[in-house]
Amino acid sequence: MGSFISFIPTPFEDIDTFFKLAPVSQVDVVFDLGSGDGRLLFAALEKGAGKIVGVELDSVLACEARKTAGEKRLEDKATFLEADVMDVNLSDATVVLCYLYPTASEALKPKFELELKPGTRVVMESFPVEGWKPVQTKVFGYKTFYLYVMPPGIVEQGRHEASLEPNTG
Ligand SMILES: C[S@@+](CC[C@H](N)C(=O)[O-])C[C@H]1O[C@@H](n2cnc3c(N)ncnc32)[C@H](O)[C@@H]1O
Repeated sequence: MGSFISFIPTPFEDIDTFFKLAPVSQVDVVFDLGSGDGRLLFAALEKGAGKIVGVELDSVLACEARKTAGEKRLEDKATFLEADVMDVNLSDATVVLCYLYPTASEALKPKFELELKPGTRVVMESFPVEGWKPVQTKVFGYKTFYLYVMPPGIVEQGRHEASLEPNTG
């Protein structure tokens, strides 16, 4: 499929928003689709996640994240794959984090619907999954974060999801 977006790291001050929407514990396997330097996933471990899996197309970034995992002695909990998100099976995930352009959510939507287990939480930064109804949204600065739980609710025809879901702040 190729690159959906270049590396635009989530600012450190925005990262907590993911875990306010999707709190994690030892049972959680957290995937970041387009994991960059791994910052969301290292935060997930600090918040108590059991395992993290990063998928990153850029070999330099995937290497950097692996190196950080080594330095933090997290190799047993952390996997960083150099791969295209479209080529990785997502069925082990209990939480999926994603900060990619809308072309990616459009491409990933059928894959999510096919592979993600019921109850898996998906948090999208900035760009919603069109047609899915978020169970919660949060605005942080100029960005909106969207939480979905599989299987997602469907937005009624002709109504925009923002009009259905009040912003919970
Ligand atoms: C906007 S950055 C976000 C990085 C990280 N998730 C964060 O929030 O800090 C998106 C990342 O996705 C990677 N990427 C883009 N298309 C991809 C694809 N098809 N498969 C895997 N990674 C991809 C880019 O190389 C980049 O590092």
